[in-house]
Parts: sequence; C-alpha cells; structure tokens
Amino acid sequence: MKRVKTGIKGFDELVQGGLPEGASILVTGSPGTGKSIFGLQFLFNGATKFHEKGLYVSFEQLKKDIVNQASQFGWDMMKLEREKKIEILCIPITKVTQDTVIMIKNKIKKEKIKRVVIDSLTTLTVNAPIYSMTKDLTIKDVVNDNTVFSPPIVGDFLVKHFIYSFIEGLQEFETVTTILISENSTEPGYMSRDTVSEFACDGVILINFESLGGDYSRSLIVRKMRQTKNDEDVHPVEISEHGIVVHQLK
Ligand SMILES: Nc1ncnc2c1ncn2[C@@H]1O[C@H](COP(=O)(O)OP(=O)(O)OP(=O)(O)O)[C@@H](O)[C@H]1O
Ligand SMILES: [Mg+2]
Repeated sequence: MKRVKTGIKGFDELVQGGLPEGASILVTGSPGTGKSIFGLQFLFNGATKFHEKGLYVSFEQLKKDIVNQASQFGWDMMKLEREKKIEILCIPITKVTQDTVIMIKNKIKKEKIKRVVIDSLTTLTVNAPIYSMTKDLTIKDVVNDNTVFSPPIVGDFLVKHFIYSFIEGLQEFETVTTILISENSTEPGYMSRDTVSEFACDGVILINFESLGGDYSRSLIVRKMRQTKNDEDVHPVEISEHGIVVHQLK
C-alpha cells in the first residue's frame, strides 16, 4: 500500500511510514492542542516535499488568520497558493449546505487535489441542524408513526447523519488522503465531539493537552489506523519554530 508521508518529524514512523493513501483521518483534541497546525503542516509538506496538491477547508477561521499562523513557522501559504500547489477555502458556517461536500468534491477532481484538510467537523456538528432539513431525509424517515421523539433526539440523529454522509462523500476518492479535525468528546468513551466520526474515519489521532511541568504539555497517540500496525504509545508533542515535532517518551 502507498503511504502518504506527513513529513511531520517523528510522526510517520508511528504509522509504518505514513498515512494509508486515500484514508480519512480524524485529528481530535481539545482547543489549542495544535490540530490546525498539524493539518497545515501536512499540506505544506505535501506541496513542498512530495509534489502533492493540497486543499484546506476552514469553517471557522479567516484566511488571513490561517496564513498568519502558517507564516509563524516559515510556511508561505500565499506563495504556494499562487503556484497552485495549495488552496485555502474559507466557507462561513452559515453558507454550508448539503451541497457543500459536492462542491468540495468537484474541486478535488478538477484541481487534482491529493491532500485535504477539513477544519473542523465540530463546527459542522454544532451548526448542522439548520442544514439538516435535508432533501433526502425527512422527519418521517427518522420517526415512525407510533414513536414520539423529542426535538433534541431527532436533531442529534440528523447531525450524525449529516456528519456520516459528509465523511463518506470525501472517502470516495481512492488516492486523496483527508484529515478531518474535531474537538474531542465531552461524553466519556467517545473521541470526537460528534461521537460518530471516529467510527466513520479510517484512522484517529488524538492530541491531548496536560501541563505537568515537564518539557512538553502536549501529547499524541494514534488511536486507530486501518491497514496499519500503528504505534500505541503516548508521545510528547512540541510546537517548535518549524511546526509540530513528535518525540519519543524517554
Ligand atoms: N509560533 C508558535 N510557536 C509555538 N507554539 C505556537 C505558535 N503558534 C501557535 N502555537 C500554539 O499552538 C496553539 C494553536 O494551535 P492550533 O490552532 O493548531 O490549535 P487547535 O487545536 O486547532 O485549536 P482550536 O481547537 O482552538 O482550533 C496555540 O494555542 C499555541 O499554544
Ligand atoms: Mg484549530
């Protein structure tokens, strides 16, 4: 199987040399753990080291903020965009519809994109109920005539359906590797905020933040990676001046 190298120092060796080509990988963790930086670094390295074109889709940040964050690590996203090696697409969450995934898929096809980052599924989840007045799913499909569900339960079902179909839509491309960013779950036993994407995705990378006074406050663990004998240890994570570095526990 072809492996897609993230080029993130210390990471690829945890997953047999890289992410499985075509996989959808959930990167989950609490706020400020470095999830977006992980995604940016995946695309920057893809464009500059591996000749793979990248698409960054953000539902939560302005383009200038993404570009500024990247520039702190010396990654010139505007230059890469001019060279057509990367595209940053910022979609205000209020503009997301059922057709957004179709638009993203068309762009992937047309621009021959190989690496995609979706930032974030959580923003989609929080806002999904308003777009879940779906064309293909009505309330009647969810509840039968004899059952009474309260609106939050129906809403929850619709959100999960929306997230599932969003991820499935992106999984159709066999040679496009996708990172989907999520906040971690507030419910015990789950890894993502929406509680379904860890099942839908082919791999899960969890980044934790816990300052205990040691060298690094962040740690990373590969929780799942289909078709891969993945490392199962917790690894300290550093956000250095060159971006994310994954260390081995001493
Ligand atoms: N130049 C830098 N050098 C070192 N650390 C940095 C630098 N810039 C940002 N950081 C760290 O990275 C964090 C932001 O990383 P990032 O935006 O990837 O987090 P995130 O997990 O995506 O957060 P959120 O869930 O809020 O979107 C900051 O909180 C800060 O701790
Ligand atoms: Mg982020």
